[in-house]
Amino acid sequence: MAYARQAPFVSAPICYCPGAPMRRRDKSTAMSNTVLTGMQWGDEGKGKIIDLLSPAFDAVVRYQGGNNAGHTVKFSDRHFALHLIPSGILTPGMHCVLGNGMVIPPDAFFEELESLRASGVETEERLWISDRAHVLLPIYAEVDKARELQLGTGRIGTTARGIGPAYEAKIARQGVRMCDLYSERLEGLLMNVSSRLRPELGSLGRGSDVASLLIRCRDWAERLKPFVADTGRLINEWIDAGSSVLFEGAQGVLLDVDHGTYPFVTSSNATAGGASTGSGVAPTRIDGSIGVLKAYTTRVGSGPFPTELAEGEPDGDFLRRRGNEFGTTTGRPRRCGWLDLVIARYARRVNDTEIFALTKIDVLDRFESIKVCVAYRIDGEEVRDFPSDLGRLERAEPVYEELPGWNQETAGTTRFEDLPENARDYVAYLEDDLEASAAVISTGPRREETIVLDQARLEQLTRGRLQTPPP
Ligand code: GDP
Ligand code: IMO
Ligand code: MG
Repeated sequence: MAYARQAPFVSAPICYCPGAPMRRRDKSTAMSNTVLTGMQWGDEGKGKIIDLLSPAFDAVVRYQGGNNAGHTVKFSDRHFALHLIPSGILTPGMHCVLGNGMVIPPDAFFEELESLRASGVETEERLWISDRAHVLLPIYAEVDKARELQLGTGRIGTTARGIGPAYEAKIARQGVRMCDLYSERLEGLLMNVSSRLRPELGSLGRGSDVASLLIRCRDWAERLKPFVADTGRLINEWIDAGSSVLFEGAQGVLLDVDHGTYPFVTSSNATAGGASTGSGVAPTRIDGSIGVLKAYTTRVGSGPFPTELAEGEPDGDFLRRRGNEFGTTTGRPRRCGWLDLVIARYARRVNDTEIFALTKIDVLDRFESIKVCVAYRIDGEEVRDFPSDLGRLERAEPVYEELPGWNQETAGTTRFEDLPENARDYVAYLEDDLEASAAVISTGPRREETIVLDQARLEQLTRGRLQTPPP
């Protein structure tokens, strides 16, 4: 396959001041900091792939979003659903960070921590929260719900966690950061938030009472103390010392506030670029990008979805049932449809995902033929680029190619050779179209139900540390 990355530019060593020892970094070997992103509308199986790759890294960093995310990890007879804490936490000893780009409701954080501990996952001294991350206050969730109610049929279909209002406060420069919990400015900040949002909530505004909120914040501050740190500095020091970092994206490219199906998006940068601003690690220090692509498409909430199979259509219902497509966070049934390569190509470009993990291929096992959308027909014209305009996207009719199905069980397969020929051809077809390498194929929800297809590329991505398929 002709996907070899060009040799990275390696500059001559630079001497910053006369006589100082030169610090030389050959990026081709010294760094292996990788960002993993969803290539559709979220729920691609990122949690599973993060868990799979984690052992080859020293730290896993979430860089955006909040508890709108739901990342599932399954191995042996164990099942975890992570919303705030990086999925890497399930790898013993892994350092995990909730980065500055996140919005974090402290109570949900404690709840998740407690549930991990109850399951025997040790988190002591390996979990940090950025002092610059924003506190997701309870009032934001109330505002989120009230707005959705008011929007009626025009609602976004948010997770009702308060994500939008929390990022809105951040961008309006009126948010409360983790470091503010320890500041004498806290009461003033809370008064500001409350006076801004109370009128909107009217009599519903239970969480806007500043006195009781202040008491909760003081309690959170105390309990969060062991976790809150200048994580930007911490992560950069780890990288300086030769550690490798995996950046765990939440949501997916089409939910990104800049690149997604705006306004039916989340309020953060879920694309690879967000990893830098959301962690405090410069883009020049992140040198790998891996995408997670589900073998078909799903979406939760409102907004255009060109390949959607409407409720009641047998193929869509089958995908939902066999793929168990119900939200990890809200339990809502996910909208289902065929794979859309217009979207996947767009994600490949925005995130530079030369390598991708193809998930849930086993869900396609029972089809005689499988449709793949290769272009859209919009107002009589064939379009291969993902449109920005919502109206055009709503009018987009998918142009399908039909590939032969394999009608044979692939669930749990661990070797590429054991996949039916048509399934192997399906993978090759996607690789050719995307000009990217399917390094991993996932054939089931469990860690062990995985084919590591492009070992060489994965080794390159992980500086040779992911040498054998995980147990
Ligand atoms: P994420 O948000 O991207 O981490 O994905 P979710 O965890 O929300 O949703 C993915 C769902 O698919 C979870 O229930 C996973 O356990 C499951 N899953 C992941 N990979 C596979 C796979 O290859 N096959 C099947 N059948 N299920 C999978
Ligand atoms: P993971 O990380 C799927 C969707 C919501 C809604 C829109 C805005 O598990 O892939 P928000 O509450 O963020 O303001 O909702 O974004 N959404 C997700 N859909 N997976 C997710 O995360 C999502 N996080 C948000 O359904 O349409
Ligand atoms: Mg999810």
